Amino acid sequence: MGQMQNAIFLFILLNYFLEASLGAISNDSFWLLKIQSEFNDPMGVFSNWSPRSNICTWNGLECSKDQTRVVGINLSNSGLSGSISPDIAHIVSLQKLDLSMNSLTGMIPPELGNLEDLQELLLFSNYLMGFIPVEFRFLKNLQVLRIGDNMLTGEIIKTIGELTELRVLGLAYCQFNGTIPSEIGKLKHLNSLNLQVNSLTGTIPQEITSCEELQDFAASNNKLEGELPSSLGKLQFLEILNLANNTLSGTIPSEFSQLSRLKYLNLLGNRLTGEIPLDVIQLPKLQNLDLSRNNLSGNITSFNFNGNNDLETLVLSDNSFTGGFPDQLCSRYSKLRHVFLSGNRLSGSFPLGLLNCPSLEVLDFSNNEFENQLPSEIENLKNLTDLLLNNNSFSGGLPPEIGNLSNLVSLYLFDNMITGEIPTEIGKLQKLSILYLYDNQMSGNIPLELTNCSSLSEIDFFGNHFTGLIPATIGKLKNLVFLQLRQNDLSGPVPLSLGYCKRLQTLSLGDNHLSGSLSKTFGYLSELTLLSLYNNSFEGPLPESLFLLKNLTIINISNNKFYGSIYPLLGSNLLSLLDVTNNSFSGPIPSELAMSKNLMRIRLGHNHLNGTIPLQFGQLTNLNFLDFSSNGFTGELPLELSNCNKISHFLVSNNQLSGTVPPWLGTLKELGELDLSHNNFSGPLPKEVGNCSRLLKLSVNQNRLSGGIPEEIGNLTCLNVLKLQRNNLSGAIPRTLGGCKKLFELRLSENRFTGPIPPELGTLTELQVILDISKNNLTGEIPFSLSNLVKLERLNLSSNELHGSVPESLGRLTSLHALNLSNNHLQGEIPSTFSRFKQNSFTENDNLCGAPLKPCSEPNGERKKQLSDTAAAGIVVAIVFTATVICLYLLYLMLRIWCKWKQASISDAESGGGVGEMAGKQDEKWVYGDRGVIRSDEYWDLNKMRLLQCSHSRKDVSMTSCIFHHSMSRENSMRSLV
Ligand SMILES: *[C@@H]1O[C@H](CO)[C@@H](O)[C@H](O)[C@H]1NC(C)=O
Ligand SMILES: *[C@@H]1O[C@H](CO)[C@@H](O)[C@H](O)[C@H]1NC(C)=O
Ligand SMILES: *[C@@H]1O[C@H](CO)[C@@H](O)[C@H](O)[C@H]1NC(C)=O
Repeated sequence: MGQMQNAIFLFILLNYFLEASLGAISNDSFWLLKIQSEFNDPMGVFSNWSPRSNICTWNGLECSKDQTRVVGINLSNSGLSGSISPDIAHIVSLQKLDLSMNSLTGMIPPELGNLEDLQELLLFSNYLMGFIPVEFRFLKNLQVLRIGDNMLTGEIIKTIGELTELRVLGLAYCQFNGTIPSEIGKLKHLNSLNLQVNSLTGTIPQEITSCEELQDFAASNNKLEGELPSSLGKLQFLEILNLANNTLSGTIPSEFSQLSRLKYLNLLGNRLTGEIPLDVIQLPKLQNLDLSRNNLSGNITSFNFNGNNDLETLVLSDNSFTGGFPDQLCSRYSKLRHVFLSGNRLSGSFPLGLLNCPSLEVLDFSNNEFENQLPSEIENLKNLTDLLLNNNSFSGGLPPEIGNLSNLVSLYLFDNMITGEIPTEIGKLQKLSILYLYDNQMSGNIPLELTNCSSLSEIDFFGNHFTGLIPATIGKLKNLVFLQLRQNDLSGPVPLSLGYCKRLQTLSLGDNHLSGSLSKTFGYLSELTLLSLYNNSFEGPLPESLFLLKNLTIINISNNKFYGSIYPLLGSNLLSLLDVTNNSFSGPIPSELAMSKNLMRIRLGHNHLNGTIPLQFGQLTNLNFLDFSSNGFTGELPLELSNCNKISHFLVSNNQLSGTVPPWLGTLKELGELDLSHNNFSGPLPKEVGNCSRLLKLSVNQNRLSGGIPEEIGNLTCLNVLKLQRNNLSGAIPRTLGGCKKLFELRLSENRFTGPIPPELGTLTELQVILDISKNNLTGEIPFSLSNLVKLERLNLSSNELHGSVPESLGRLTSLHALNLSNNHLQGEIPSTFSRFKQNSFTENDNLCGAPLKPCSEPNGERKKQLSDTAAAGIVVAIVFTATVICLYLLYLMLRIWCKWKQASISDAESGGGVGEMAGKQDEKWVYGDRGVIRSDEYWDLNKMRLLQCSHSRKDVSMTSCIFHHSMSRENSMRSLV
């Protein structure tokens, strides 16, 4: 090959010498072939570039009239790659060089500066790098220079001002920095200047007004600052001015009103303030005006457009405009098609003047303060395709005339106060694709006619009061992709025909009163990715056809009455969330569940599932939330689960799990909540738990744990809740517990702890919910330090062997509303502030006195000592008698209460001695993608957690997708015109 090429080259060389006398044209052919060899030419544009044919017939070349010189090269959009050869400079007569829209790399050769005749140089849309060659200053005849859309860097050379013939300068979409050189002003003939999308800084030079012939000026998407030069108003030929997305400030100069030919004015995304000068609005030729995303203000109601009927697009979104719609904008002759006024403070009723704008296609009033009823005359807007009225305060019903907007494609009415029913006329909207009525007060049935809107692809009625059935004919909506009817009062079954909405991807029916079992037609919904049916009364086994849905990623069918196996839910390997909480599913967990490697949340709590936890779950390395609580699971926690090292919530309470608490739990660094309570775990609490430094909640209560509390527990500096009650734990309560500074709930009751109460507990000043160490064998005195727990609401030290007196300072605990010190050996005077508690808070002690018990009279103690044996015996008998009577009565009371407790599904027997938890089991918020991180029965809400959190930056666990929050920010559809 190489030899071949050499041979050809030699041949050419030979030719060159032979034909030298034939003139410059053969000279050109020599260099052109050399230049050609630097390019890769996959499309074969050079196929006829052969020394044997006339150069003037070669593709992409243009010869002079006398056929003696090559004057133009046009290889635009020819798929070329490679670099531009400096030898182009040898084609000395070149007037036009167009290599645009290829894949050229490398630098722009400075030698191009030698092409003195060059009038047009087009290199835009390649991958060229480096600077603009300074040698370009020699291109004195250059009229068109377009080198944008490359990777060029550096500053715009000042010598550009020497190219005095320049008409068109295109430097957009590069990485130019520095300022716009004032020398631009020397380009007297410039009519198009495009500097968009670079990193230009500084202000817009005043000198630009010397470019008197300027028609298009675009410098959007830079970092230009300072004010808009009022002198721009002198550019009398200006038609396009695009300075969007900079940081320009100040006001819009009223001098702009002199721009009598201006068609397009785009100042969006700056920091402009003040009002729009009235006469700018009246620019006679203006077609597109975009001033959105500034800080402009003022009442726009009385804007007078003074007969400008050319305006097609008006974008004033995201400012602080007040008033209403400028009614004068609309006339029979107006061409207004697009109006975007969202995100202002416009108010009043729906502007009737608008109805005189028959040309209107897109109307966006969203995010304003409009109110009152929508007028029935809205039907006049026959050309309307998009009507966005969301996030206002419109009220009243939806006028039936809306059915006459036959071109309507999208209707956004969410977040208003619209009432009444959906008019049946809606069925006439054959082009309607998006219907968002969510977050209103609408009611009545969903009309059957809705299913005549055959173009519907998205329906969102979330958060209204719709009742009755889902239309049985819903299956007619063959284009339906998104159906959300969540949070309404719908009842009855899911219609069979829904299975024919084969494009459906999202089905969200949660929080209704739907019932019946799911039909097997569900199996046709092969595109379904989200299935959310929570909080209804669905029942029966799941249809096996559900297994055919291979694209499901999110399933929430919690809080229903489904039973049977969960197996049909596991056909997809793409699951990321599965929530079947609170149904009656039974049988074991199918190990297939572990095939969905992206599973992040599994919630199977409150069912009748049983068997062991499958080892395969160890493959779910993205698992973040695991809730198996309140089922019948048995066996040990499999070692394999230690691979799931992103787990932050590990909840397996209320099962029959056994074995030891595995030390590998300490390797789960993300663990925030660990609940092993109400199982049969035995053995010690492993010290490794102290490594879970993000742990906020640790519950191992009601197991058979033995041994001491490991000292390392004190490393859990974020811990909010520690529940170890009702085990067989023994030894001393470790002093290191004082390290858990964020504790606000601490329960150690009903164990066998011995030794004194460590004074360090008094440093846990965040303790608020409860400190319960009752029913142990603790000795010694009540430490004074406990009086520092000023936030504490409940304190239970009962049924221990505590001695001494109740520290007077404990009386400072004014937040306490439950206290139990009974059943100890305490004596002396009860702090006076404790008189508000009942007697049984103090009974069964050695010698406590003072309110609410008997007063401590000084001599009383003396006399007691002197009591005769008979008197003492008498007193004992009396006490025993009274005590028996009281006990019997209490027993009776307790039995009654006990029966009531049993009725209530969950009783809280965790705390003894009258310090019961107040809250019953409240319904979890089964909100879709719940924030059920925290169960409300535990006094542990998200806010508190935030308050008390350590500095660890926790990633938000809410993967809960904002699928349901459509923030409609319609980028105005205008493309930059230059
Ligand atoms: C412009 O960018 C170049 C590199 O791309 C850099 O060397 C130069 O300092 C920059 N100039 C300014 C004014 O930021
Ligand atoms: C302004 O910037 C935004 C992104 O920040 C972009 O989407 C938009 O297209 C830009 N507008 C113009 C007119 O360049
Ligand atoms: C805006 O101006 C109109 C008439 O010029 C007036 O009726 C209206 O009250 C004004 N609105 C506000 C919010 O100032």
